Amino acid sequence: MPNVGAIIVGTGSFVPEKRLTNDDLSKMVETNDEWIVQRTGIRERRIAGTGESTATLASHAATRALKAASLEAKDLDLILCATISAEMVFPSTACFVAASLGLDSTPAMDVGAACSGFIYALDTGAAFVKAERYRNVMVIGAETLSRITDYTDRGSCILFGDGAGAVILQPSADRNRGLIYSSLHADGHGWDLLHCDPGSRHPIDANMVAGRQQFMKIKGREVYKFAVTRFEELIENAMRACELSADQVKLIVPHQVNQRIIDSAMEKLGLPAEKAFVNIAKYGNTSAASIPIALDEAVREGKLKQGDVVIFVAFGGGLTWANAVVRM
Ligand code: UT7
Repeated sequence: MPNVGAIIVGTGSFVPEKRLTNDDLSKMVETNDEWIVQRTGIRERRIAGTGESTATLASHAATRALKAASLEAKDLDLILCATISAEMVFPSTACFVAASLGLDSTPAMDVGAACSGFIYALDTGAAFVKAERYRNVMVIGAETLSRITDYTDRGSCILFGDGAGAVILQPSADRNRGLIYSSLHADGHGWDLLHCDPGSRHPIDANMVAGRQQFMKIKGREVYKFAVTRFEELIENAMRACELSADQVKLIVPHQVNQRIIDSAMEKLGLPAEKAFVNIAKYGNTSAASIPIALDEAVREGKLKQGDVVIFVAFGGGLTWANAVVRM
C-alpha cells in the first residue's frame, strides 16, 4: 500500500474554434443530420485549423490545467500525453508540449492506447506520484483526428473531432482521495477493428495514398458491440472493487464514443442516464481527449465537487479498455 494518494488538483481543456456540422458533412458524403443524430448523438465536431496541431491543442489545455491548479510550468515533474494522432512519428507530442511550456529538461512521453489512452496515462502518472518519484504530473489527452480521417468514408468521418484535455496529479496524505482504483486491459488480436496503417509494417507510399489507406479504418458495428459489453463490465467491476452503490457514484465520465452506446449501457446497468456526463453532441469522438475534456466541463459546470466519486470508462483501438475511480 503506497504512503500517499494521487489527487487531481486542476483540469483544463481546449477545442479548436472551427466547427464541422452534420449539414457540412452531408455536402461531403451521402449522409444527413437526422441519420447522424439518431445513430450517434453527434451534431457537430471541432476541427483543427491552419497552424493548429495536436501539440498546440495539448499545450492550451495544459496551460489551463496549470492555471486551475495555481501552478507554473516549471513546477511540473513529468508530462504524459495520450494520443493516436501525434504531432509527428517522433519526437513525442509530450516533448513538443514541454517545449511550448518553456521547459527544457522535464521528462515527457506519449502513451498510446487509442480511446483508452487517457486512463492509461492517468494510471501511469498516478503510479509515479504514489511511488513518490514525482510530485506534479501533467496528464494530457489530445487529438487532431481530422488529420487521419477519411472524409470520403461516411461510416467513419461523421464520428471524429479534435480537442485536448489535461489534468494535474499531486500526492496527498489522504490515500482515499484521488485515483483509488483502476484497471487496464488490452487484446491485440482485435487490432483490425480500429487502426491506422502507416508505420513499419506498411510504410507510407504512393499506393497507400492512392488507396486512401493512410486514414483510420473502423469496423463500426463490431466496435459498437465491443464497446457496449466492455462499458457494462468496466462499471460493474469498478463499483464492486470499491464497494460503491449507485448513490455513492456522483458521475460516470465515459469515453464519448456514441450516445446510443452510452445510453444502452447505462440502461442495462440500471443506472439513470443523467449519471453519465455526455458532451458528444458538441465534439464527436475525440479519442484520448474525450474523457479529460468531459471531466473539465463537468468540473466547470459544478457537477463535481471535492469528495465526489467519479468513474471513467474507455474502450477502443488495440483493442484496449480501462476504468478508473477517482474521489475528487
Ligand atoms: O471510439 C472507438 C471508435 N468508435 C467507433 O468505432 C464507433 C462505434 N460504432 C458506431 O458508433 C456505429 O456502429 C456507427 C455510428 C459507426 C454506425 O452505426 P450503425 O447503427 O452500426 O450502422 P451500420 O454500420 O450498421 O449501418 C447501417 C446502415 C448501412 O446501410 P445498409 O447496409 O443498411 O443499407 C450503412 O451503409 O447505415 C448506412 N450508413 C449511413 N447512412 C447515412 C453508414 N454510415 C452512414 C452515414 N449516413 N454516415
